[in-house]
Amino acid sequence: MTATTIPTPEHVQPVPLDKAYRLLNHGPTVLVSAAHAGEINVMSAAWACALDFLPPKVTVVLDKATRTRALVEGSGVFALGVPSVGIAALTLGVGTDSAASVPDKLARHGVRCFSAEGHAPPLVEGCVAWLMCRLLPELRNQHTYDLFIGEVVAAWADERVFRAGRWHFDEAPDHLRSLHYVAGGQFYVTGASLQVGRDGP
Ligand SMILES: Cc1cc2nc3c(=O)[nH]c(=O)nc-3n(C[C@H](O)[C@H](O)[C@H](O)COP(=O)(O)O)c2cc1C
Repeated sequence: MTATTIPTPEHVQPVPLDKAYRLLNHGPTVLVSAAHAGEINVMSAAWACALDFLPPKVTVVLDKATRTRALVEGSGVFALGVPSVGIAALTLGVGTDSAASVPDKLARHGVRCFSAEGHAPPLVEGCVAWLMCRLLPELRNQHTYDLFIGEVVAAWADERVFRAGRWHFDEAPDHLRSLHYVAGGQFYVTGASLQVGRDGP
């Protein structure tokens, strides 16, 4: 399995680890990417969640039938990307086809990746945030619930929509908004911000 490799896109900036949980706090669907023994793969996951602030941790459900799970188990590392509206079709595609039966899955869905120095899992172009994770093995959870826990060791975001520790979707083009999966190809798109509290209504 190969994917087109590109240089790090413009606008990608590191996110401090103490702010990494905010990349998932609004509940976006993610892309899970992993690499092992010369194979790379990407799948979609709606069941991904922040688990802790610092060191930041995440959970993600990886079904036993997925090829990506085997790469995560084999390598002990994975990345989560937060896809934008611009790659909604890709997100549905890599979540529908399995590399187990569609060997050219990544090329078929136009997946283009870049790499972060010192980290094997590829990062998917068109996402607006990326979290590089080290698997914290919890074999019972993995076996019984397909639930994987990762410690976030590095994070990045597209500065057009996430900067100074906050999302700024309202000030960016709509195609950069993140996605929330329902079922059957239907997504909701991240909506308007509502500030509640001292500075809000
Ligand atoms: C939007 C979307 C969200 C999904 N969420 C999950 C999920 O949270 N966990 C999971 O195991 N599979 C989920 N899937 C299904 C996998 O992405 C799918 O089985 C995929 O084909 C696995 O690819 P692979 O076998 O190449 O790794 C989702 C599919 C879609 C389209």
